[in-house]
Amino acid sequence: MINKSKVMYNGETFKLEGTGIKEKETRAKDLAGYFLNSEAYEKLDPETVMYRVEYQDNDLVEGTPGGLYFGITHLYPGVVGAEYFLTKGHFHAKRNTGEYYFGLEGHGLLMMTENSETILEEVRPGSVHYIPGNKAHRLINTGSKELSVSACWQTESGHDYALPEEMFPLRVFRDIVGKPVIETNS
Ligand SMILES: [Fe+2]
Repeated sequence: MINKSKVMYNGETFKLEGTGIKEKETRAKDLAGYFLNSEAYEKLDPETVMYRVEYQDNDLVEGTPGGLYFGITHLYPGVVGAEYFLTKGHFHAKRNTGEYYFGLEGHGLLMMTENSETILEEVRPGSVHYIPGNKAHRLINTGSKELSVSACWQTESGHDYALPEEMFPLRVFRDIVGKPVIETNS
């Protein structure tokens, strides 16, 4: 007997479809302290959805070794002041566990930092990104449409949302001609 997959990726909507899919929204009010321009941040409607993460709930228990999770992050385009919309970013609670990202739609950057050393990779449809263990990682949407990126990570990884300034020493702003410019977070 051949079973059908419980979950399908829809290449037109860039979303998962099927059974057992969960979704978590992160709104502007959840990102206090993440953007440099606090005045511009205060002007956002606190209920504005900044990004959504959907994942397959495969009944595995987070923190237990051996399993994998699969999900997609959808990060909306925009700026706070001149700083591009971003995900909170995190370390893995179990620090030495890696993760894969795969670009589905939109354009952005993957920021990875360890001991103040940062690597930025361009994310676009089809780009594959290995995130080694011990690196804090976040997505930044530098494009004009939604940035959708799939991810596969270990059940034992967990998430550690350390203080943003402790995780990422760089910020990415939109310059006057609409190009990304990288500045030190001082
Ligand atoms: Fe991660």
